[in-house]
Formats: sequence, C-alpha cells, structure tokens
Amino acid sequence: MLKGDIMQLIRAIIRPEKAEEVIDSLDEKGFSAFTRIDVFGRGKQKGIQIGPTVYDELAKVMLLMAVNDEDNEEVIEIIEEAARTGSFGDGKIFISSIDEAYTIRTGEKGL
Ligand SMILES: Nc1ncnc2c1ncn2[C@@H]1O[C@H](COP(=O)(O)OP(=O)(O)OP(=O)(O)O)[C@@H](O)[C@H]1O
Ligand SMILES: [Mg+2]
Repeated sequence: MLKGDIMQLIRAIIRPEKAEEVIDSLDEKGFSAFTRIDVFGRGKQKGIQIGPTVYDELAKVMLLMAVNDEDNEEVIEIIEEAARTGSFGDGKIFISSIDEAYTIRTGEKGL
C-alpha cells in the first residue's frame, strides 16, 4: 500500500460547548471536512451527580473526521488543545483505520 493511501478515522467525543472552538481550530489549520453527530454517553465516572439528581448519560458531540495518516497526529493535537478544560468529561478520541474512501461525485478513490 502506498503511503498516501493510509487513512485514519478520528472519532472525537467532546463537550457540546467546545464543538465550535474545536471546529474553528481545525478549519484554521486546513482541516475543514467533518461530520458532526449529537450523542449521549458516559465515561469512567458513570455520569455526574448535581445535588440529588444523577445524570447517567450526558450530551456530547461526536466529530467524525477521515484524515490522511500523515495528518492524524496534528489533528489529534488540535482537537485535544481546543476541547480541553481539565475537568472530568472533556472527552475521548478513538482512532481506527479506513480501508477505502470514495468521492461520490467523481468516483475518485481517496479523500
Ligand atoms: N470507553 C468508552 N467507550 C465509548 N465511549 C466512551 C468511552 N469512554 C468515554 N466515552 C464517551 O466519551 C464521553 C466523554 O467521556 P469522558 O471524557 O468522561 O471519559 P473518561 O474516560 O471518563 O475521562 P475523564 O476521567 O477525563 O472524565 C462519554 O460521555 C462517552 O460518550
Ligand atoms: Mg469521565
């Protein structure tokens, strides 16, 4: 496989209130394409308790980004920097490899 053919799928689950900042930071560095999905979930702390009320699933935003392998690390760093508050629940980033990608309009293979 050629170096340029290796692609990664980044799934970043972040705070909804950080989504615009993350998207803007990525765009500034030339990474403009993404899919945004509103999700609910929980991490290690199993949600959050505020007073007597337990919220066992919290609203998050999942950004899906397909990137060329050589950009993967930079994109992860941009997301981490923009999404971090330092408190529990800042989110997760999951990476997996993409076997193939196609542009429907042209039929071209790749991103
Ligand atoms: N192991 C996991 N599998 C799938 N989704 C996860 C997992 N861990 C976290 N998530 C998703 O990420 C969101 C944010 O998780 P969160 O930041 O609380 O992770 P954490 O591992 O508990 O880290 P922290 O200790 O900083 O809170 C969750 O609401 C959930 O949607
Ligand atoms: Mg957590």
